[in-house]
Amino acid sequence: MNWTETALINSQPRRWLQRFYEVPVLLRIGGRLPPGSAALEIGCGSGYGSELVLQRFGADRIDALDLDPAMIDRARKRLASYGNRVSLVSGSATDLRAALNADDDAYDAVFDFGIIHHIPQWRTAVAEAARVLAPGGRFYFEEVTAHALDRPTYRRLFDHPIGDRFTAEQFVDELRRQGLLILGSVNRIQGDYLLGVASKPVADGGGR
Ligand SMILES: C[S@@+](CC[C@H](N)C(=O)[O-])C[C@H]1O[C@@H](n2cnc3c(N)ncnc32)[C@H](O)[C@@H]1O
Repeated sequence: MNWTETALINSQPRRWLQRFYEVPVLLRIGGRLPPGSAALEIGCGSGYGSELVLQRFGADRIDALDLDPAMIDRARKRLASYGNRVSLVSGSATDLRAALNADDDAYDAVFDFGIIHHIPQWRTAVAEAARVLAPGGRFYFEEVTAHALDRPTYRRLFDHPIGDRFTAEQFVDELRRQGLLILGSVNRIQGDYLLGVASKPVADGGGR
């Protein structure tokens, strides 16, 4: 992430948007987590999202990872008061076994607050999120589409991988290809952003 995006992502308006718009939408679709739940946040940045997962979604504990060690340092400061409910790791969302030693079905919920569009091998990150979700677990996502990334302002101000980005439909198709079920409807904002929840089916084919 370049300087401009780091500043924007950590700005007060973005935090308000996340807390007062995105979280209520995600809660309405996917609900709070059952007591005792273990969550994972991929691309946690400075840890604001992980704090929301603990406070608003009711996770008992969270593992949070980011490729950028400087972000992990920021998250560690922000989340220090949660003690051993939080574990922070520097590593890639494309290989959760290497980063976290994460087994299949390890988490009740995985959170993606605007990170997968940063990953060149974005399908691998989706596959990893699906792999580590327990049956009945939820994948909460907020993503940025190829349409937004192609806008001149985005291209001028930010630094994203180019080529093989996804539309909302392609992202949802990839979730389905990885065996996840889309819950309710996916919120699409001007073709630029999408917000939704998918569930890993339990053995009989139903969601939790
Ligand atoms: C747009 S920021 C979002 C940060 C945070 N989720 C938030 O909403 O404030 C994207 C984050 O993804 C991280 N990132 C990029 N590629 C990654 C990867 N392969 N694995 C884990 N994190 C990655 C970046 O370092 C950055 O912190």
